[in-house]
Amino acid sequence: MKIEYLGHSAFRITGSKTIIIDPFLNKNPRACLKASDIKKADIVLVTHGHGDHLGDSMEICKNTGAIFVAIHELTLYAQENGLTKTEGMNIGGTIEIDGIQITAVRADHSSCINVMDKGGYSGGNPIGFVVRERNKAFYHAGDTGLFKDMKLIGELYKPDVALLPIGSRYTMGPREAAYAAKYIKSKIVVPMHYNTTHLIRQNPSEFKMFVNELELDTEVRILEPGDYLEV
Ligand code: NI
Ligand code: MN
Repeated sequence: MKIEYLGHSAFRITGSKTIIIDPFLNKNPRACLKASDIKKADIVLVTHGHGDHLGDSMEICKNTGAIFVAIHELTLYAQENGLTKTEGMNIGGTIEIDGIQITAVRADHSSCINVMDKGGYSGGNPIGFVVRERNKAFYHAGDTGLFKDMKLIGELYKPDVALLPIGSRYTMGPREAAYAAKYIKSKIVVPMHYNTTHLIRQNPSEFKMFVNELELDTEVRILEPGDYLEV
């Protein structure tokens, strides 16, 4: 499983299939790709309706034929925008696509789509995703504050890698994210959702320092957009 950081909270995971998560690319000055650079994708996961996560997901699904996976309400919005291949889900549920198990988990955050005035869509609840394929698993926390049930996510799904927001203001900051790592107990944690704008400026080394202070059996891998790791 190759996990490639595209910037902000966007990742491309390549295993037997290509999975794109929260592809905020065209309007992200720090993204390493434009949506049109993504020629192949099978599944696009969107954690919630905020523009920095919904991003270019529609365009990528249209260009590649990928299945759009999100909370039920967001898939209604996607269908209204012309996507035919969608899979709606909700917190606690798991779906399977081509041998890949995708579980929607809790995220403490808010959500909306900027068309409330037109179509009246709510963005549904924000979620995180746990994705399992064969004996590998990763957890993308989406936008969230720290919550203690992250321990359950760790115990139930035993993710090899956890992708955690550290930007503060809208999500956990470095200190809270280090606590999240303590609960999740993944082998690797990757910080995300920071330094995209000045509002979420953070030093990822500080996150690493907090994790080290907790003496966890967890490696912090700081990725620049375009970097990847393999598990
Ligand atoms: Ni958000
Ligand atoms: Mn966000």
